[in-house]
Amino acid sequence: MNRSLRTHEVGVDHERVDGWAKVTGTGPYAYEQPVSQPSYLHPVQSTVARGRVTEVDARAATALSGVLTVLTPFNAPRLQHGHDAELEVLQSDEVWFRGQIVAAVVAETPEVARQAADLVRVQYRTSPHDVILSVDRDDLYKPESVNPNHPTDSLAGDPDAAFDDAARAVEATYTTAMTHNNPLEPHTTVAVWHGDDATATLTVYDSTQGVHTIGEAIATMFGLTPDRVRVVAPYVGGGFGSKGRPHPHEILTVLAAQRLKGRPVKFAVTRQQMFSFVGYRTPTIQRMRLAADVDGRLTGISNDIVELTARYKEFAEQTGIPTRTMYAATNRRTTHRLAALDVPVPSWMRAPGECPGMFAPEVAMDELAEACGVDPIELRIRNEPETDPDTGKPYSSRNFVACLREGARRFGWADRPPLARSRRDGDWWVGTGVAGSTYPVLRRPGTSAASVRYDGDGRYVVSIGAADLGTGAWTALTQIAADALTVPFSDIDMRIGDTGLPPATVAGGSSGTTNWGSAIVAAARRFREKYGDDPDAGDEYTAAATDDGHTERFAMHAYGAQFAEVLVNVDTGEIRVPRLLGVFAIGRVINPRTARSQLVGGMTMGLSMALHEKSVLDERFGFVVNHDLAEYHIPTCADVPSVEAHWITEHDPYVNPMGSKGIGEIGIVGTAAAIANAVHHATGVRVREVPITNDAVLLTSHQ
Ligand code: MOS
Repeated sequence: MNRSLRTHEVGVDHERVDGWAKVTGTGPYAYEQPVSQPSYLHPVQSTVARGRVTEVDARAATALSGVLTVLTPFNAPRLQHGHDAELEVLQSDEVWFRGQIVAAVVAETPEVARQAADLVRVQYRTSPHDVILSVDRDDLYKPESVNPNHPTDSLAGDPDAAFDDAARAVEATYTTAMTHNNPLEPHTTVAVWHGDDATATLTVYDSTQGVHTIGEAIATMFGLTPDRVRVVAPYVGGGFGSKGRPHPHEILTVLAAQRLKGRPVKFAVTRQQMFSFVGYRTPTIQRMRLAADVDGRLTGISNDIVELTARYKEFAEQTGIPTRTMYAATNRRTTHRLAALDVPVPSWMRAPGECPGMFAPEVAMDELAEACGVDPIELRIRNEPETDPDTGKPYSSRNFVACLREGARRFGWADRPPLARSRRDGDWWVGTGVAGSTYPVLRRPGTSAASVRYDGDGRYVVSIGAADLGTGAWTALTQIAADALTVPFSDIDMRIGDTGLPPATVAGGSSGTTNWGSAIVAAARRFREKYGDDPDAGDEYTAAATDDGHTERFAMHAYGAQFAEVLVNVDTGEIRVPRLLGVFAIGRVINPRTARSQLVGGMTMGLSMALHEKSVLDERFGFVVNHDLAEYHIPTCADVPSVEAHWITEHDPYVNPMGSKGIGEIGIVGTAAAIANAVHHATGVRVREVPITNDAVLLTSHQ
């Protein structure tokens, strides 16, 4: 059963319910949570990329006034082994990457902790390290699956034969850079143990995208039952996936608090430390082939991908996924191969898979359009599939073409000169480009639950252990709860961000609203069935959404079309993006204000990927040298003059009772390709690498 929600509050442009708390500074982020007598942790990070710690000399650190303890691989309390190598912090002398935590100081003040950490002397037995990603390596391997559990490779028909027989073809290698998640709020964990015996319990204030996810990881690593671990995260300043799964800093903070027997420990990860142990996006090398007839109808499509993982733990980015599903073609192949290197383990960064995985195909489609003499929008329309090419399932709704057409109208695409390098305005080449966006609707029915309680005086408390990492979830869920209970928005007291509330999935994969909203609707309906429209104070019902089977029957995706205008300086190659415009098909929009913010934010981050972001790995020492916001570039307001996000009206009765599709990630998908295509249109130079730098344009354009 999947009755649609009747909407009164859903779709309304409500202010954020947490807005006032945030702008007045009264909403506590993890670091600001009041605890009595806090102590402060500062880690010591390895200065070698591979080897073993042979000795930790903490005498000078310990002698410093205010130092409470120094944890080392040789004295740290033992954790459960064999669950997650990334989380086994200070459990062995082995060094897997430069920047790994090899010791930690806890002190009375953050300043003393940092000073003492500097005084800790670590000796290593160093081994040669290897951090070079290349398609020529002879040790590339095929992982068992790619994130989260997709088949590693896909094959239908014979794409190589289709390529050999093609009237028109594109074959090229496209690369995307290593990039690091840089949310505004760095990661912070505060750990408080209560009691110090076999019944001790733990409270953790954490900056996280999922309190239950973190709570379960901590319970597992410390051998506790989950009910003894409480994780609290009402306010989070962004994450982009880096707070979606546990990392060593959370475990280390709990470990330190355990050692101090009752003294709370705070660990505020610094911006520089974030480049070492909270995840990042792998660089990708994508060998892409398109085969088509003279009119640009695809007969074959393949993407063979090489990317990296860490030697101590595998993460396989699902970069080939969009190639599997985006366009029709009888013959198709995707492969993923990994190099296991002496680097930190890569992880989720906004639209893992789809984001890098739409760069190659969407630039290749632009190249095919040029080869066929077909407009790039028309080319995409000609390759629109009837059913999902990957699974054969019908789409629950697919409105990619409507996005292309509406975007073309709003952007003024009809006036575009068909030939590259045909518009110049003073010292600037002018060009425009288009690319497609897609992101799946991920659903995990039954894994989130919500409770509804009537408190009397017309007030309903709706509780779920969801996270609002700045996305607007708090507000959107309040709107959904109001409609599910058929009461006004202002009658709902929403409670989120605490493992004391019913279990909720992680705020990841753009799936929060789907999973949590479905649970809230289910709980509200059961509440009304049981208690009617006139409940007594204290009446309460907790429920999870049941599986409607739609995931088995339909392919479910959001779509978008992104348009970019670029200026490229004739003399310097400087690239500016005066205008980005996206039109999205994202189901029903719960809150236009927060939705627009998500889409504009995603597109801005896509511009950042196109022109700015690159983690520079120094091969000699094996670490990212530009590990701060002075040298790791993200766009400022001046870099992003105009970003417009629009959406079409889309009704999808299958995705969830709200009819909504995820919006947190689709905005970043395709943006970089649209900008690369616009750079080509401006200059005639085809850049197949992001970030696109001045020299890439300049060196070729003056030949
Ligand atoms: Mo998102 S990278 O799935 O948190």
